[in-house]
Amino acid sequence: MARIIGCVTTSHVPAIGAAIAKGRQEEPYWKEWFDGFAPVHRWLDSVRPDVAVVVYNDHGLNFFLDKLPTFAIGAAAEYQTADEGWNIPTVAPFAGHPALSWHVINSVVAEDFDVTMCQEMLVDHAVCNPMQLLWPGGGPWPVRIVPVEINTVQFPLPSAARCYRLGQAIGRAVATYPSDERVVVIGTGGLSHQLDGERAGFINKEFDREFMASLITDPSWATRYSTVELVERTGSQGIELILWLTARAALGTGRVHEVAATYHVPISNTAAGMMLLEPAA
Ligand code: DHB
Ligand code: FE
Repeated sequence: MARIIGCVTTSHVPAIGAAIAKGRQEEPYWKEWFDGFAPVHRWLDSVRPDVAVVVYNDHGLNFFLDKLPTFAIGAAAEYQTADEGWNIPTVAPFAGHPALSWHVINSVVAEDFDVTMCQEMLVDHAVCNPMQLLWPGGGPWPVRIVPVEINTVQFPLPSAARCYRLGQAIGRAVATYPSDERVVVIGTGGLSHQLDGERAGFINKEFDREFMASLITDPSWATRYSTVELVERTGSQGIELILWLTARAALGTGRVHEVAATYHVPISNTAAGMMLLEPAA
């Protein structure tokens, strides 16, 4: 059966894509952030995943406020990349894995998750920037992808508890897919940030640190909070941490080992973080 070999969670801030396009990785503002990915590159070189399940949120590119699914899963043979207004150069399209996508869709629907199935899907900075952080160069990409999109944009949002259960269901789906493929699960976005309103610029280092630690030892910790409580603690875009939670839940409840982590404030308006976890031997 297919096997999840690890989980990488990372911020997806548009400015990361702009910094990559302009070759700014060595500049003082960016160096620490980009250098944090060196152990991730070494790990990817050694484990060589075949597929990435990418848990992310669309920011008005593929879905807009008029029609917005809570959960959507891509089942396309290819995903074109596009810029929804940040002026970031696009990257090479991503090859899909329709057979695994349909297996995941069938599995999670059988577990009572209502997902929108997308045989055409454009992906934005929330997929492209993390993929570039993991595999620099802008493609061609060494993995096929299964995009899992979750609404973090327009209320009502799915609760952390429900996202956690969806992640567990995705983990079970991968583990019952008949192939020997190695799968990395990627969760993008976060950590605490708020882009507009009275609390624009809001960051909560203490909560972010507690959340990151919980992903190692107590992965369902964040599910005790309602969506409103999470927005209060992390900002109206910090709620993107439910994408990290979903990805982490796919690893299951067995012990995990932290291979790498960074936490850096600020990148643009965010507390930027990255974690790489793998199942403990
Ligand atoms: C920023 C962060 C995001 O998560 C996003 O989707 C857009 C912008 C920012 O900090 O600039
Ligand atoms: Fe975002």
